[in-house]
Amino acid sequence: IRTIGVLTSGGDAPGMNAAIRSVVRTALGKGLRVRGIRRGYQGLMEEEIIDLSARDVSDTIQRGGTILQTARCKEMRTEEGQQKAAAICKKYGIEGLVVIGGDGSFAGAQKLANLGINTIGIPGTIDLDIDCTEYTIGFDTAVNTAMEAIDKVRDTSTSHQRCSIVEVMGRDAGYLALWCGIANGAEEILLPEEHNYDESEIIKRIIENRDRGKKHYIIINAEGVGDSINMAKRIEEATGMETRATILGHMQRGGSPTAKDRVYASIMGAKAVELLCEGKTNRVVGYKHGEYIDVDIDEALNMEKKLPEYQLEIAKKLAI
Ligand code: F6P
Repeated sequence: IRTIGVLTSGGDAPGMNAAIRSVVRTALGKGLRVRGIRRGYQGLMEEEIIDLSARDVSDTIQRGGTILQTARCKEMRTEEGQQKAAAICKKYGIEGLVVIGGDGSFAGAQKLANLGINTIGIPGTIDLDIDCTEYTIGFDTAVNTAMEAIDKVRDTSTSHQRCSIVEVMGRDAGYLALWCGIANGAEEILLPEEHNYDESEIIKRIIENRDRGKKHYIIINAEGVGDSINMAKRIEEATGMETRATILGHMQRGGSPTAKDRVYASIMGAKAVELLCEGKTNRVVGYKHGEYIDVDIDEALNMEKKLPEYQLEIAKKLAI
């Protein structure tokens, strides 16, 4: 293998730059040429391809976002688009491709692998919703960002003796909500994995808590449950306790990555290049039971991940 490409795809995540930097420098150290593809698969379709040197990734490890930018690309879901992407890789001599993103991005990598481009995925998403790994780039930073924001909401919530509903991202997964729920000492954590939460029970608990002298009531609501604004109206009406909803939104995706995100992303970037040099393809790098691993993409896309039950249990026991 002489030339590799690297792209970031789907939602950006803090730490992606550390992964890009590591891919570039590991590959250059092995005598490879590195092509950076801008704006994910969309940029690949439009041939937004640049050479990357060690200096091009200087001063990036501490930066949020992705220096290569990212996009969600519909064309890559079609057979025609996949053929076009593979042909462009071949045109630019890209024999191996590192794809940093989520499951959707890995599905694209799997198709390219079938078309003769060696591909390795690196899990990058703040949602932690990739089944084959216990760690995804960006989750640690996002959960810390959300935690700090929720601490601030709690201050004002206590001053005013209010109920506060804080909605955190996560798409259909509840990892961010579960972690914030524990880290922020929330009274309630609403998760998409636990369908049909009982609002009348929550209302009862809010009234009981207020009667016991609690000065605030923090509800962490996962994006996958949603409806925070209306929920706040309903709760205020039923409890008589002033209730406000805060949707944290995209601020959770930005900011300088934590040490964990910088280090794990750096190791995963290096591992992806090593796998390509060993002739491996159609694999995703992961982290499980304290070790960096790699898994077949087909298998990775068919795995099922569940919220850690023990953590869930503890969260519930502490939310009293
Ligand atoms: O996958 C990351 C994520 O931030 C999700 O938590 C959220 O549902 C989604 O992306 C938002 O996407 P967009 O940035 O396209 O609005």
